[in-house]
Amino acid sequence: MEESPLLATQALIEIAPTPKSKPRLEKKESSGMMLKAAVPIFEDNGNFVGVLLAGVLLNRNFEIVDKIKEIVHEGEIYKGNEIGTATIFQNDLRISTNVKNQDGTRAIGTLVSEEVYDEVLNRGRRYVGEAFVVNAWYLSAYEPIRDINNDIIGILYVGILKKPFDDILRNTLITFLGIALGGIVLIIFIAVYLAKRISIPLRKIEESAKRIAQGDYYQEVKVKAPREIEYLASSLNQMAKELDKEKKELEKWGATLEVKVQERTEEIRKIHAQLFRSEKLASLGKLAAGVAHEINNPLTGILTNSSLLLDDLDKNDPRREDVDVIVKETIRCREIVKRLLDFARQTKPQKQLININAIIENIILLIRNQTSFRNINIQKNLINDIPEIMADKDQIQQVFINIIINASEAMSKGGLLTIESKLSTNKETILISFADTGPGIPEEIKDKIFDPFVTTKEQGTGLGLSISYGIIEQHGGEISMESKRGEGTTFIIQLPVNSLEGE
Ligand SMILES: Nc1ncnc2c1ncn2[C@@H]1O[C@H](COP(=O)(O)OP(=O)(O)OP(=O)(O)O)[C@@H](O)[C@H]1O
Ligand SMILES: [Mg+2]
Repeated sequence: MEESPLLATQALIEIAPTPKSKPRLEKKESSGMMLKAAVPIFEDNGNFVGVLLAGVLLNRNFEIVDKIKEIVHEGEIYKGNEIGTATIFQNDLRISTNVKNQDGTRAIGTLVSEEVYDEVLNRGRRYVGEAFVVNAWYLSAYEPIRDINNDIIGILYVGILKKPFDDILRNTLITFLGIALGGIVLIIFIAVYLAKRISIPLRKIEESAKRIAQGDYYQEVKVKAPREIEYLASSLNQMAKELDKEKKELEKWGATLEVKVQERTEEIRKIHAQLFRSEKLASLGKLAAGVAHEINNPLTGILTNSSLLLDDLDKNDPRREDVDVIVKETIRCREIVKRLLDFARQTKPQKQLININAIIENIILLIRNQTSFRNINIQKNLINDIPEIMADKDQIQQVFINIIINASEAMSKGGLLTIESKLSTNKETILISFADTGPGIPEEIKDKIFDPFVTTKEQGTGLGLSISYGIIEQHGGEISMESKRGEGTTFIIQLPVNSLEGE
């Protein structure tokens, strides 16, 4: 008041209650805080004459705080709030500040919080921390202001709005969370993609491989996957196919093997039978030749004498009939002996170049008009240009006749005899077949039809086929028979074309 009433009003501050401040009894503060300076004054000669004393009242003097704000924060504003603030406290009372009230006026008259009060004013220590200033949080620092006696008389406060940091923190957090979330989503997508593209196809391949291992080769895995996996699948398919093929081949081979074994066995059996028959025929031949020779002479005697006896007997003599039987049966015996000798003789064939077709034609001419062939149709399918072969004409003719007569005897009630000649595909063999439509060969003699003395005929010797067998064998050929009961019989003779070698 003494200096200037203006200073008194400038210093007078109404105390506004602040929620966190220490309670104050007074309602007003009438004292002020001054920034003072004293300078000695000297005369020109250097004599000290006095002191220049100057002071600035800090109450409601915003020059310092605004300067701080300007220098430090360049007056930046963040979302309507000052970013940086500065305050000068006289003791705990805000006397100069740029912290604003809600209404935008400077927050003069408010009090410092109790916490800061204790730390700075009571203990004389700097306070650094978060502080709620008027209406927002600030990162703040409170520094004690001391007078010339080093007594604490107030506080210098600077603060920086916490919101930007919070926002940065929050934004960072949100960004981080966003990235993390994006990452998780991405990982899920990658996992699903990998599963679809790799795991699922691989599982399919695995299952297929298992089934193949269990022997199910009809597998085709179709996968949409990276190339390597598709290669894997197609290799597996290929493998299954190959395995299937191999398996089938093996099975086929197994089946044919069985057939082949059967065929071989049958062949061996036939060869055995042939060998056996040949041996038997040979020894039988010797025996028969001996017997026949021995019997021939007595037979001639019987025949001569019985014929003479028959001539001597009177025409009406009742004994004539009996003697006639003796003569006839003896003739039959001689016939048998002759055949036996034929069979036993096994003469070496007198080979010459002969035409098989010509022999057949000749025989047909001979037999056609015989009574036993009256009801039999003869059909011939003879190959043109049949190669001539080296063979004994009489013997071959005898074989054909034997077979033809057998056929006619089998078809006593009529039928068809088909005679065929042809060349084998390799042109090395002539095939001659005689097929009749008779009753077929009885099952019980089928296997021994070429053995001597096998006959079903009353008047038969059973030597016809065994003689034929021997002849064909001597010509290096083969004779075989196919017969079906009730359907007919076919005899097939194979003769080698180049039988010159047999000479
Ligand atoms: N075409 C045929 N059809 C049916 N059976 C046949 C035929 N050919 C031969 N046979 C049977 O084979 C048997 C033996 O024939 P093979 O010619 O060797 O003697 P055979 O005819 O009985 O007597 P032989 O020829 O000495 O007069 C015959 O008794 C007959 O039972
Ligand atoms: Mg016969």
